[in-house]
Amino acid sequence: MPTTATPTAAPTAAEAIPTAAEATQPKVDFGEPTTPYAAYGGIDTLHSLLQPRSTEPAETSFIIATQVMELLFGLLRHEWTQAQQALRADDLPTASAALRRGLGVQDVLVSSWDLLATMTPVEFNAFRPFLGEASGFQSYTYLHLEFLLGNKHERLLKLYAGSPRIHAELAETLHAPSLYQDAERLLRARGAEEWTAVYTDPALHDLKLLAELLLDVAERVTRWRQRHLLAVKRAMGAKPGTGGSSGLSWLSKAAEQDVFPEIWAARNAL
Ligand code: HEM
Repeated sequence: MPTTATPTAAPTAAEAIPTAAEATQPKVDFGEPTTPYAAYGGIDTLHSLLQPRSTEPAETSFIIATQVMELLFGLLRHEWTQAQQALRADDLPTASAALRRGLGVQDVLVSSWDLLATMTPVEFNAFRPFLGEASGFQSYTYLHLEFLLGNKHERLLKLYAGSPRIHAELAETLHAPSLYQDAERLLRARGAEEWTAVYTDPALHDLKLLAELLLDVAERVTRWRQRHLLAVKRAMGAKPGTGGSSGLSWLSKAAEQDVFPEIWAARNAL
């Protein structure tokens, strides 16, 4: 039966979409020396941190690549610490979510090498003397990540002997179980001795997903190391590093090492 009610006419396209003149514009009059954006993000401070020492234009991308990666190391440390706390609380979904957020950070870290991909030795040599003995090897945030992965070299704490706060933070992570050991503890708590079990026992399916997630992390760590190695090879060849190592040959050893070797080794037995 037809209804007697008159339906409201649908607005025409012209009526539904406001014209540019009607659209509300963002506010532009804050009447302050800075905008809320700059204040919130500390943007003035951020840009003031770019202080090239040489007249070489390529130094700008070197400094920004270093600063961007350092911030991303910090974000990754945050995500891995969250993951670790969740593993200790037997909370696999929260741990997995944090590791997955970390994978996104690692992907950005790997592609950050694009910022330095074209640097020639002549460009690098033009600002290298200004680095003095500075090297990314001295990054305590990176060292923190290495400790979380389980690559613990107590000797490196010496780098921070003059900085009690950083030394204490690193020493705590050095002596605590690593992210890997926390995952391994869950494995043992479920009655398994080896990672091979999670691939064959359907009752350990959730731990198989964790093992695969840990390998996603491991692959990205290796990819970062390999891209670093290529950037070094391209920008300075096999010359010694500013941090005092032999350079390429020393770095290639770390790039060859498996991260979470036990989970890779499980492949040999499956
Ligand atoms: C083309 C530019 C770069 C060159 C030529 C270079 C060179 C080197 C060299 C030779 C080393 C070995 C230690 C040494 O003797 O200094 C090293 C280590 C390291 N660099 Fe770089 N680097 C570059 C860019 C970066 C950037 C942008 C970062 C980001 C923060 C970085 C982070 C690191 C880290 C974390 C290590 C220690 C690696 C480990 O312990 O396995 N590097 N770098």
